[in-house]
Formats: sequence, structure tokens, C-alpha cells
Amino acid sequence: MVTAYDEPGARYSDAAGVDILLVGDSMANVVMGDDDTLHVTMQDMLHHVRAVAAAKPKAHIVADMPWMSYHVDVASSVRNAAELVRAGAHSVKLEGGRVRRDVVRAILDAEIPVMGHLGLTPQSVLALGGFKVQAKTREAAEWLTKDATLLQDEGVYAIVIEGVPNLVGTRITEALEIPTIGIGAGPDTDGQVLVFHDLLGMTKRAPAKFVRRYADLGASITEAVSQYASDVRTGRFPDLSESYDNPEELTN
Ligand code: KIV
Repeated sequence: MVTAYDEPGARYSDAAGVDILLVGDSMANVVMGDDDTLHVTMQDMLHHVRAVAAAKPKAHIVADMPWMSYHVDVASSVRNAAELVRAGAHSVKLEGGRVRRDVVRAILDAEIPVMGHLGLTPQSVLALGGFKVQAKTREAAEWLTKDATLLQDEGVYAIVIEGVPNLVGTRITEALEIPTIGIGAGPDTDGQVLVFHDLLGMTKRAPAKFVRRYADLGASITEAVSQYASDVRTGRFPDLSESYDNPEELTN
């Protein structure tokens, strides 16, 4: 799974053969330049889900439910999930375990598949006191495994496990029948997810420990744009092959 926020990103990742495109609220960090995901709204999500769906990918599209879109009451949560589906998502992802049980059940009752998200849940950054590795004690690890089992019993089809010691990623994966998708949860989860801009080297901050950069597109973009700017300044762009031919009437 890889994140996607727009049509070209979705098209390139789909051509690469990924299974799932996540329209993540991490767009806050990598597209909007925010420090957390708390300012992402339903409007923002709908806008980007539409753009990703426009790529008509073969991959499954899962859309993040943004903070406060499933925290007020069950009815508005179901309506928000349905809006994301109408914008082009095939399923929705939401953060949290037992506290979100009723909401998960109601969204599933509305025939919308749900992906869970446990561990370092970025929408809880204020309550967690920062972006910190979770489940570092036996008790916390057991609590998290129970949350994962509960979500599975409710009927979620997969769970993202984020920011936990790798043994916790392993144990939760072993405890579940549904797939786990890890990010900073070690090598033993069933799948992995990375943020598009992280794996391509397009982020302003130093990448987290769990990120592997597969390209340095940031440097390539700066190089290409500076070449363009220099060609414009020195009159090397455009040349006549990049200009429209003159009609005879103008040349006589
Ligand atoms: O928004 C996002 O990119 C995510 C991933 C980190 C799993 O939720």
C-alpha cells in the first residue's frame, strides 16, 4: 500500500502494481506542509479522493476519515464515510480500537468496508503527547492486541499497525486472521505502507527511521526546474521546434 493524493501520483503507483492506494490524511504533512493531521477536513479529503479516483486505478482506493469526521456521533460518521465512497473510495480507514467500536459497526452496517489503524495513531497526537512509538510495555502491547482482535471481530478487513516495536507488529499479525499493514511496525506484518513523498524523497523533514527512500525526486525536480529557469533567462527556451509554425499570410 502506498499513499496517493492526486491523479498523477495514483496513476504512477497503479502502473507500479501496488495493491492499495491510501488517500491518507498525511496529505497534511506532505502536501499542505502542516506539522500534524488535525487540520484536514472532509472537504480536503473529498477533493483528493476525487483526484485519485480520476486515475481509474486497478488498485483498491481506501480513504482516511479525517479527525472529527467520526468522533461526534454515529450518524454523521456513517454519512461522512458514504461521502468518501461517493467521491470514489472503495473503503474507509479510521483510527482507534474499542472507543470506535460503535462507529466501525455502523459504517460496516451501511455496507462500507472499513480498514482499522492502531498503534501510533497520528490523529491522537495531542492525547499521546507527541509522535511516539507505542506499546512499549507488555500491558500496552496486550491492550493493543485486544483492540486489534476486537476490530477484526467487528469485521474490518485489514488493520494498519503504526509505530510499535517490531515484536508487537509480529504478535498482532500472528493473533489475527485478517491482514496487518505495517508502517514502523517491523518486517513481519502482512503488508507495508509508506507515504508516497517519503519513499520518493520529496519531504522537507528528515525521514522517520522506518522510511526507506527509493528515489531522490526532490533533487531531480530542483535540478530540472533550475535548468528550465536558466534556459528561459538565457534565451535557450523555447526554440523554434517548440513554437507554432507561422501561417503563410503572416510571412508574406
Ligand atoms: O495518512 C496516512 O498516510 C496514513 C499512513 C501513515 C498509514 O494513515
